[in-house]
Amino acid sequence: MTTIPVPKRVSDGAQNELHSMDAYRERWLSAQADPSGFWLRETLKSITWMTPPNQGLEGGFRTVQQTGFTWFADGELNVTESCLDRHARERPEKTAILWEGDHPSEVEHISYKSLLLRVCQAANTLISLGVQKGDRVIIYMGMVPQAAVAMLACARIGAIHSVVFGGFSAEALRDRIRDCGAEVVITQDMGLRATRQIPLKAVVDQALMGESGVHHVLVVKRTGEAVQMDPERDHWWHEAVHDQPTHCPATPCAAEDPLFILYTSGSTGRPKGLLHTCGGYLTYAAYTHRNVFDLRDDDVFACMADIGWITGHSYIVYGPLANGATTLMFESTPMCPDPSRYWDMVERHRITILYTAPTAIRTLAAQGDHFVHAHDTSSLRVLGSVGEPINPEAWLWYRDVVGQGRCTIVDTWWQTETGGICISPIAPATPTKAGSATLPMPGILAKLVDQDGHEILGPGQGYLCLSQPWPGQARTVWGDHDRYVATYFSTYPGLYFTGDGCRRDAEGYHWITGRVDDVLNVSGHRMGTAEFESAILTHDAVAECAVVGFPHAIKGQGVYAFVVPQAGATVDAGLAAELTTALRSHIGAHARVDHFQATAGLPKTRSGKVMRRILRKIVCGEADGIGDTSTLADPSIVDALLKGCQT
Ligand code: WT7
Repeated sequence: MTTIPVPKRVSDGAQNELHSMDAYRERWLSAQADPSGFWLRETLKSITWMTPPNQGLEGGFRTVQQTGFTWFADGELNVTESCLDRHARERPEKTAILWEGDHPSEVEHISYKSLLLRVCQAANTLISLGVQKGDRVIIYMGMVPQAAVAMLACARIGAIHSVVFGGFSAEALRDRIRDCGAEVVITQDMGLRATRQIPLKAVVDQALMGESGVHHVLVVKRTGEAVQMDPERDHWWHEAVHDQPTHCPATPCAAEDPLFILYTSGSTGRPKGLLHTCGGYLTYAAYTHRNVFDLRDDDVFACMADIGWITGHSYIVYGPLANGATTLMFESTPMCPDPSRYWDMVERHRITILYTAPTAIRTLAAQGDHFVHAHDTSSLRVLGSVGEPINPEAWLWYRDVVGQGRCTIVDTWWQTETGGICISPIAPATPTKAGSATLPMPGILAKLVDQDGHEILGPGQGYLCLSQPWPGQARTVWGDHDRYVATYFSTYPGLYFTGDGCRRDAEGYHWITGRVDDVLNVSGHRMGTAEFESAILTHDAVAECAVVGFPHAIKGQGVYAFVVPQAGATVDAGLAAELTTALRSHIGAHARVDHFQATAGLPKTRSGKVMRRILRKIVCGEADGIGDTSTLADPSIVDALLKGCQT
């Protein structure tokens, strides 16, 4: 086994290779000219390989349909050796996970040594339940350390985890369990968030009703609340792991073996299970984490996302641990017990890098500056934003009030599909502009194209595409490669289409304008309008409906539903409440409609296609931009809709 040591650090403990704009430009050009060589050198330097790869990139976007593309295909590794073993050897007592529970008094420091031990015991537990390499394990949990342990335990034995955000409903959970064919589910008795209990185990029970595929459920005891336990199927985590050996050999995996599946919403159909692989994903998560945030040895890195989303995978678990960092895991919300929670945590844990979403920033800014000022936030050095476009006001508040003008702001654009950050400033080198994600990472070739797929060179606005593969890119949609190709590579042949609109200014800076497809982004939560519509249509009183997003001051986007009632039914508060319940049970509590508007009909073309563009203009208050409605089957509908609009 070859062990490549962790890279040498310069004197201030910085691990960032991109100290200056010159260094950034040099690396970017080198990755553009020779992506294979660039990423091979990078992975050999930063990742522990069992069999170091000789191959870099094989194939490309033009071969995606037939053979796909691969990174480091002849290499073998186990990602947990990079995330755990080498640090447990070299710095065993360093805190790997700094956990803060729902109540600020609950704090746990888990060292690299002890995290490795816990992961090994959990891995042995999974083995004892019959889990083998390539099997799928669903993790349906809140933000407890065992959730990270569970992910890493799967990785240790080459099992594929699929984390399902703890806010999803039983039905949404069941869909995901079925789609990936999981045999084991890991959950907790109850989730705990802002003092509220979330009945995770009960939801799992409901999701598994009538299911035969899942043989075992592991249950972490979080609150001790009484829950039903099926003696055949359910096991308490603490009992199951207790007597397991604290050593578990790391299963060798090919670089391209799956590491995890993560479901995300698209513009049509059901959520897709994006598949990420071991070697490329880890290389990219580690590289971006180290460089974008200017990581140093003594950093306390706090990413406030949930591990149910890609941000939690890449920047709470895999990136920080691969880099030997201290990563914070936070169970609660920024408003609990009051709006100073983040700043209180910054002071108590001496957080140096904070990474959160614009919705949280806007929510906290609206509470007033005194919550920040009441705490010593002088430890902060880098402030990150992710998940949605950040408006300049929120950006400036982040920099001037939270960062007191001392910190670098990194607005990081990326997606579940990209595995890691693609367009972002490199702290502290890149000169920033309020509201811009600035420049592409080395290895990322961002292109803007117009409707016809013609590339826009220089300043302009268009659809954001990436033209060259990078190691962190999702390789397929689980069980449906055709859908992967159709969704991402067929709109503009030869290019990966992101689904986002983007403006590029005269200095080549990127300004993401948001989704151009039917994907909603509410408080950084990605949901499809089609999922909303199919949930609403399950109600008997609804004949037709159409859902679109509208600008919302705090959430970024709100959700607006046009509902055509069945004959004899009315869209009133009662029906709205029932539809809210339907959305909650089909998708989850985060799927909420802000306004239901009754309408006698939807604007349709003569061939019966709903003109969503018109609906979007109506709810965005852009009546002037609606344009020609003469092709509509019934143009008078537009006036009626405009009159009834509530935004
Ligand atoms: C969509 C991807 C990135 C991980 C969390 C979300 C939007 C993401 C930014 C940003 C503007 C952003 C895009 C993207 N988005 N980051 N910095 N500025 N928009 O991952 O759930 O897969 O959502 O989030 O619209 O396509 P996701």
